[in-house]
Amino acid sequence: MKIGIVGAGAVGSTAAYAMLMRGVGSELVLVDRNTELAEAQARDILHATPFAYPARVRSGGYGELDGAGIVVLSAGANQKPGESRLDLLSRNAAIFGEIIPQVLDASPDAVFLVATNPVDVMTQVSAAIAAKHGVPACRVIGSGTILDTARFRALLARHLCVSPKSVHAHVLGEHGDSEVLHWSTAKAGGLPVEEAGRQLGKPLTDADRAHIDDEVRHAAAAIIKGKGATWFGIGAGLARLAQMVQDDEQALATCSILTPEVAGVKDVALSLPRLVGRSGVVATLEPTLTGEEEKALARSAGILKAAFEGVRV
Ligand code: LAC
Repeated sequence: MKIGIVGAGAVGSTAAYAMLMRGVGSELVLVDRNTELAEAQARDILHATPFAYPARVRSGGYGELDGAGIVVLSAGANQKPGESRLDLLSRNAAIFGEIIPQVLDASPDAVFLVATNPVDVMTQVSAAIAAKHGVPACRVIGSGTILDTARFRALLARHLCVSPKSVHAHVLGEHGDSEVLHWSTAKAGGLPVEEAGRQLGKPLTDADRAHIDDEVRHAAAAIIKGKGATWFGIGAGLARLAQMVQDDEQALATCSILTPEVAGVKDVALSLPRLVGRSGVVATLEPTLTGEEEKALARSAGILKAAFEGVRV
């Protein structure tokens, strides 16, 4: 499958590299208004192909995206220290207003994976633009909390001293400060994480839960402080989403699409457990929430809805 990556900065290029390492995509095309950057990233990734899976890797203009099955949208500004993701909205919405029609001209049938922050509102902006070209919302998928869910699983696994693959825990709502860690259904080995912790001699105290919540919720700010941006976690998450689409995997992942109603808030893009396959999101699961989690999800949805209402699409 041909996969386009529009925005060849740290996130887009890392996503392309992660796809190569996972064997996702037979042809990777990097597009960026900085053509020199796109060319250099493509050349660098091409040199990894002998160590990875066979794939053609090149840079090009929007026209080179013709026939792409997936297009990753990672163009735009990223957070600087002290900036929230929502602070990026007006700049990045304007950029998307320019690039999405060009992408749609070349690949109207693609599944779009939105990575640019604030990713949930950018997903709704993208869906609104794409809808004008007849593209259904199910084919405009934001990475959303796929990364936060990975962080939650990784940190719980570290505490329990088990493999992250043995931990099933989800983050819902905004990919951002109002996200909802779905503690009430977090499990390890089929047991609630609290019980698994007790049996493993790694009890989860209230302080441990608060620490994990803080580390998940504020992960990006801590990493940005140290290295200026994040790219490995999000790049790997995008590659995993692309694999679900390419392989028609029918896999469940917390990701963001425009959703008719969430916790009483109408028409908002945020993350819930979604079934992902070749045609995009094919179904959404309604999570079982405690009263507190329901309130937190409604708050998250309200924040995102208000942010979108401030954007001219
Ligand atoms: C982060 C960016 C991708 O959370 O929003 O690392």
